[in-house]
Amino acid sequence: MVIGTKGMGQYNRMCSFLEDNGIVLADTTVLDAFAGDGSFRSLEYMDRVKHVTAWDTNWEKLLDLGRNVGDSERIEPQCVDSIHQMEEHQLEQDRKWDVIILDNPCALYGGEEYCEHFEILQNAFFCRNTKKTNALVFNVTPTPHKWNNRREHHIRRTVYYDDVRAELPEISMRGHYRFYFGNWGGTIKECLYIKHKHSGLEAGYYWVAVYVFEASRT
Ligand SMILES: C[S@@+](CC[C@H](N)C(=O)[O-])C[C@H]1O[C@@H](n2cnc3c(N)ncnc32)[C@H](O)[C@@H]1O
Repeated sequence: MVIGTKGMGQYNRMCSFLEDNGIVLADTTVLDAFAGDGSFRSLEYMDRVKHVTAWDTNWEKLLDLGRNVGDSERIEPQCVDSIHQMEEHQLEQDRKWDVIILDNPCALYGGEEYCEHFEILQNAFFCRNTKKTNALVFNVTPTPHKWNNRREHHIRRTVYYDDVRAELPEISMRGHYRFYFGNWGGTIKECLYIKHKHSGLEAGYYWVAVYVFEASRT
């Protein structure tokens, strides 16, 4: 059991940003697709929102998360592979969330089947509740992970971003997501990139990208 977070306040800043942009946290449902035990930073927001669906592949971590939050009404832990689960939800259109958080590894994972948020982001985009102002939060790194399969990671990034540079600047990342979200039919209200230092990455940091979207008019 873990009390408190090792994170450095990124989700506290996220909470202020969401509230400043019209998302009333106490009335908000969240899907946290890489929830873990919450000790890295998810605990920073969990006691402020109405309900959290918490996905992770590690059941032990989810049990710890339940103990850490201590409010079984608020948290709904599910031991699933988030990439598959998000795809099913998107296809079935059975449930939507006001805020979707992807605290995705900034690396290759799942036996190198997955890379960062590349396989989940589009499906997550379509699982947002667009009846009200909503948000999508995910980790964006300018460089590959040092101790992972760096060459394979770089190749996957080159294809995803259509950019061969070893280090991608924030402005390129913002341009990339603005283009994709626009193509998928989203209207960005505001976005915030919060820097997080991380020695495991070539660049030594990544960003927690917070995108707030307007409610849909239809
Ligand atoms: C960066 S940690 C999340 C930290 C967490 N948000 C917190 O505040 O403690 C990434 C998490 O992703 C989980 N994970 C890895 N692959 C996954 C997958 N395919 N589906 C769901 N969870 C996965 C890991 O078990 C790990 O807990």
